[in-house]
Amino acid sequence: MDQAETPTAIVTGASSGIGLGVTQALLERGWQVVATSRAIRTSKELKPASNLVLIDGDAGKKETAVKVVETAIKHFGRIDLLVNNAGIYVPKAFTDYTEEDYNLVMNTNVASFFYMTQQVIPQMKKQDAGHVVDISAVIADQPSSGAVLAVLSKSPMPAVSKALALEYAANNIRFNTVSPGVVDTPMHAGGNREAMAKFHPLNRVGEVSDIVDAILYLQNATFVTGENIHVDGGVHAGR
Ligand SMILES: NC(=O)c1ccc[n+]([C@@H]2O[C@H](COP(=O)([O-])OP(=O)(O)OC[C@H]3O[C@@H](n4cnc5c(N)ncnc54)[C@H](OP(=O)(O)O)[C@@H]3O)[C@@H](O)[C@H]2O)c1
Repeated sequence: MDQAETPTAIVTGASSGIGLGVTQALLERGWQVVATSRAIRTSKELKPASNLVLIDGDAGKKETAVKVVETAIKHFGRIDLLVNNAGIYVPKAFTDYTEEDYNLVMNTNVASFFYMTQQVIPQMKKQDAGHVVDISAVIADQPSSGAVLAVLSKSPMPAVSKALALEYAANNIRFNTVSPGVVDTPMHAGGNREAMAKFHPLNRVGEVSDIVDAILYLQNATFVTGENIHVDGGVHAGR
């Protein structure tokens, strides 16, 4: 398969946790990847190669999205999958959140989705094919107290993804959401593992591979669009 026929993905927040796991899984399966985060070029796990381009940048800024998408097209000639994964978690009492917290969380979790997705659509339309997966969070469905900015920034994803699934169905571009429970990544490095496990009816913390499996399933499931897969050990079933 030459480079222009090899499937190509963009993964945001690819330096760590879920984004790193997805990037590695795609590379292992023969994909080409443009991986981005604020400081991905210092990554110990990912090194640039003929099938991997690393781009530093704030995913909440339009200029990063433009650069990432232009690079994907220049290097690989196509974009088959965008994984909107960059995100941060700032738990606080509601009235303790500052304007800076609000801007940081909304830029990282929401503006990144907006700019990246806008930029990939023209190329996917040209291809008459493409897929966008957004990483939400189960707390959008089953909110916990003390994390309202997580709920505010993650709850729109399934609805917006459905709206885009309809808007671009005629272009054969699919949009899906994955909603994780608590996953063992650096995001929760200091957390109490036993307490985090108890949050889930299945009584364990999620692994990065649990989320990667859902993304790979969605990529292969070409009749699935507008879907929200909960990978949360049963939390969405109710508590
Ligand atoms: N872990 C969980 O329990 C859990 C649960 C539900 C949902 N999620 C969601 O899953 C996604 C991945 O989380 P994770 O657990 O893998 O977290 P993580 O290990 O902390 O990784 C977060 C990634 O996002 C990047 N990032 C942060 N701010 C950024 C910005 N402004 N611009 C570009 N990249 C940025 C980080 O890299 P740099 O520092 O280099 O920028 C890193 O690569 C997030 O959207 C998160 O909300 C996670």
